[in-house]
Amino acid sequence: MSNWWDLAYSNDFIPWHSDTPTKELVDLVESGRIKPCKVIDIGCGLATNSIYLAKKGFIVTGIDISAVAISRAKQRAKMEGVSISFYNIDFTKTETVSKIGKFDLAIDIGCYHSLASKNERERYFESLNKILNNGGKYLLWAFSSKDAWKGGPPGIDENEIEIMYDKKFSIIERKLIDTSFRMTYFYYLQKL
Ligand SMILES: C[S@@+](CC[C@H](N)C(=O)[O-])C[C@H]1O[C@@H](n2cnc3c(N)ncnc32)[C@H](O)[C@@H]1O
Repeated sequence: MSNWWDLAYSNDFIPWHSDTPTKELVDLVESGRIKPCKVIDIGCGLATNSIYLAKKGFIVTGIDISAVAISRAKQRAKMEGVSISFYNIDFTKTETVSKIGKFDLAIDIGCYHSLASKNERERYFESLNKILNNGGKYLLWAFSSKDAWKGGPPGIDENEIEIMYDKKFSIIERKLIDTSFRMTYFYYLQKL
């Protein structure tokens, strides 16, 4: 699958990319509800959110399955004058992921919702559990599966997160927002 992402980033076919950080993340940071800490940006792409967080004083690690995305993200971070640790890894590979350390905050803007199988999603969840400190926060931005289009990300089902994350996480906030793409779930969770 990394080939598909590499192809997309190589050809600049990246309709999801924005130079503006994600509104829901910015709201939490600017309101002081999320304070500078050690954060991992899962599926960081070209690292707009990683760069934003680094500028706000967070210690940032960005990971992505696409080597092309990581290479471009490194260039962008350099141009912006921020220091970020980048890794080209697949977040569903728990053994590899667990080697990069522990975090107080994990953000995922559009990565989890693109995982195609239940098995991949379970392994993702295992990785997340491994790398988040107890009491750590997790922010997930994911399309609803309801209006998925052919070839697009599958998205997530209405109670998928509640079912999968039950007992290990508590929900601080959950909302369904109408983005310019499609209906999108925004979750802000805390690891117990
Ligand atoms: C829709 S893009 C979003 C990128 C970025 N978060 C943003 O907001 O621009 C999803 C990203 O997740 C990455 N990705 C997909 N599956 C992954 C996996 N298993 N592990 C790590 N990254 C993955 C892709 O390469 C891509 O950069």
